[in-house]
Amino acid sequence: MKKIIYEKYGEADVLRVADFEINEPAEGELLVKVMAAGLNPIDYKIRSGALKFIYPVKLPRTPGGEISGIVEKTGSEQSAFKPGDKVYAMLPISVGGYSEYVNANEDLLSHMPEKNSFNEAAVIPLAGLTALQALRDKGNISKGMKVLINGGSGGVGMFAIQIAKAFGAEVTAVCSGKNTSFVKSFGADHVIDYEKEDFTKLTSKFDIVLDAVAKSSFGKCQKILAKKSVFITTIPSPTVMLRQIFNPLVNKKTFGILTKPLSKDLDFLTELIAQGKLKASIEKVYSLEQAAMAHKHIETGRVKGKLVIEMNH
Ligand SMILES: NC(=O)c1ccc[n+]([C@@H]2O[C@H](COP(=O)([O-])OP(=O)(O)OC[C@H]3O[C@@H](n4cnc5c(N)ncnc54)[C@H](OP(=O)(O)O)[C@@H]3O)[C@@H](O)[C@H]2O)c1
Repeated sequence: MKKIIYEKYGEADVLRVADFEINEPAEGELLVKVMAAGLNPIDYKIRSGALKFIYPVKLPRTPGGEISGIVEKTGSEQSAFKPGDKVYAMLPISVGGYSEYVNANEDLLSHMPEKNSFNEAAVIPLAGLTALQALRDKGNISKGMKVLINGGSGGVGMFAIQIAKAFGAEVTAVCSGKNTSFVKSFGADHVIDYEKEDFTKLTSKFDIVLDAVAKSSFGKCQKILAKKSVFITTIPSPTVMLRQIFNPLVNKKTFGILTKPLSKDLDFLTELIAQGKLKASIEKVYSLEQAAMAHKHIETGRVKGKLVIEMNH
């Protein structure tokens, strides 16, 4: 089977296709024939070496934190899955998704949403779980809340808008002018064009500010946070972690999110998809051989929705 590897940290060109043996699934694992792998900014951040002190990884390494595919073999006789099942998952950092086959702990996998193609399902887990765990677990989102999402056109933002709407919140999304209709298509009630207006100077107050693209800060958002509110960022910097310690003492709380690959949360998203409340948008489909090109694309920071690698078995 083919997979993408890199043997040293560096630019996107360190990525190359290599041939490997398929491993038998161990007890508790599934061997999954990967049909598609989603891309996320963490893929290039780890590859470049920028995160080597936070996420030390063993090289050579295969990137990719989310997949969809078909169960090829189960490692245990008693399994919740059977060969032929369509599945999707967020993968732990030790398992790379840009690969024709992966061995993954079956606790991480969920049955794929019936409505979705493999490409659509593959781009949901990591960014979708980030948005869910941020809004529900850190933000305690509930009906009627006012929620602002900075970076509504990115992977996390696109799912966050829809999840916030599914919880009955009033959503303001921040994006550039060219993406206004895109974020509206996910249900945003109000849209702020960051090229024309600084959202941190709005007079409205928000119960939750989710900085999905981590371009702002608690300090900058202070004035738009309601008396009892939550600021959540996708980059848990040391300052954010320090501020988090003081949350029990303050009314305006700060959280940095570290997404967990929980299949029960993925099942929650599957249910939203079944109800027609959650969909994915893919800007471009790449082949496995085009992984370096796909990395260069996501590194621009301008992706609208998601990028995906489609396997050619
Ligand atoms: N901590 C965790 O567990 C975790 C999990 C998932 C993601 N993350 C992090 O979360 C961040 C976002 O991830 P993602 O997948 O959503 O990224 P992404 O899809 O690559 O984000 C790209 C989007 O960001 C928008 N954008 C760029 N600059 C902006 C700005 N100043 N204001 C508003 N929007 C802006 C772009 O739109 P324009 O071109 O219109 O500007 C583009 O649509 C990344 O840093 C990622 O590493 C962290």
